Amino acid sequence: MTTAVSGVKPSGTLHLGNYLGMIRPALRLAARSDRSFYLIADYHALNTLRDAARLREFTLDVAASLLALGLDPGRTALYRQSDVPETFELATILSAVTPKGAMNRAHAYKAAVAANEAAGRQADEGVNMGLYTYPILMAGDILLVDGDLVPVGRDQVQHVEIARDLADAFNTTFGATLRPPAADVDPDVEVVPGLDGRKMSKSHGNTIPLFADPESRRRLVARIRTDSRRPEEPKDPATCLVFSLYRQFASEAERESMGRRYREGVIGYAEAKACLEAAIECELGEAGKRFRELRGDESRLRAVLADGADRARGAARATLSRVRDAVGTGPPL
Ligand code: TRP
Repeated sequence: MTTAVSGVKPSGTLHLGNYLGMIRPALRLAARSDRSFYLIADYHALNTLRDAARLREFTLDVAASLLALGLDPGRTALYRQSDVPETFELATILSAVTPKGAMNRAHAYKAAVAANEAAGRQADEGVNMGLYTYPILMAGDILLVDGDLVPVGRDQVQHVEIARDLADAFNTTFGATLRPPAADVDPDVEVVPGLDGRKMSKSHGNTIPLFADPESRRRLVARIRTDSRRPEEPKDPATCLVFSLYRQFASEAERESMGRRYREGVIGYAEAKACLEAAIECELGEAGKRFRELRGDESRLRAVLADGADRARGAARATLSRVRDAVGTGPPL
């Protein structure tokens, strides 16, 4: 039996990078796993988002988005991380077997330090402990529900490896208790480029929202950077940002046909962009309509999240009681 666990941070409007890098692979994996959990990691978002009303809004946005994209809440427990408090107890216990050096080496923390140093600031300026211990909390999310497969984008692989290391370290010290998970990376998804060619990311301001209306999507697609080759000049699809997004939404045959037209110099960037828009609309247009309907029904969203939290807590209590027994904080004295 395999258990898939996925998570998404409700820290902003979801964009195509989130969708292609982790949401779409996670939904596909959930559909073929025996058990699956999808959590909305609101305490991870708290490290950067200091606005209660927006945190709630983004949480409901994510819930409605996942349901609109086809998450079946009967099969996959969809819940808010903060509704499963066992997570935080497990994270505390895991901290006791986490080498501090492993946190020093975690990418998100290292990137923050590198950015500070490049700007001539103190290494840890603006770094909170939530960012520093982010991988421990994420390990809590995963290990709590006995996850063995974690579908993530490449940037999150290290976090899953840390979760695995912590499970191994715990098991070595206290006996076999936690199930070591593995990352499941879609080999087809490279880093999703944004409008300017850097990784698509909210912090770079280069995103295309998941459910943009066609007109604003058109304006954004128009901004995707290209070179100045004319339609009749041969082009290399492998280095074109428009093509690299298009290939994610196109069928194999469409991908090959457009690739050929690039190489032969019978397509211009304006036409390629129109094809990209059509391909996005085809995959996400209906989901966008469902999103707007679902988002308008907050009581339904709350009911789905409450039911998901109940089911996740069922699994969580069992794990936590094994863990407490193993370390000696349970059963009650
Ligand atoms: N760190 C993940 C991200 O930013 C989100 C996340 C939190 C997660 N907990 C998780 C992903 C557990 C998978 C499993 O994308």
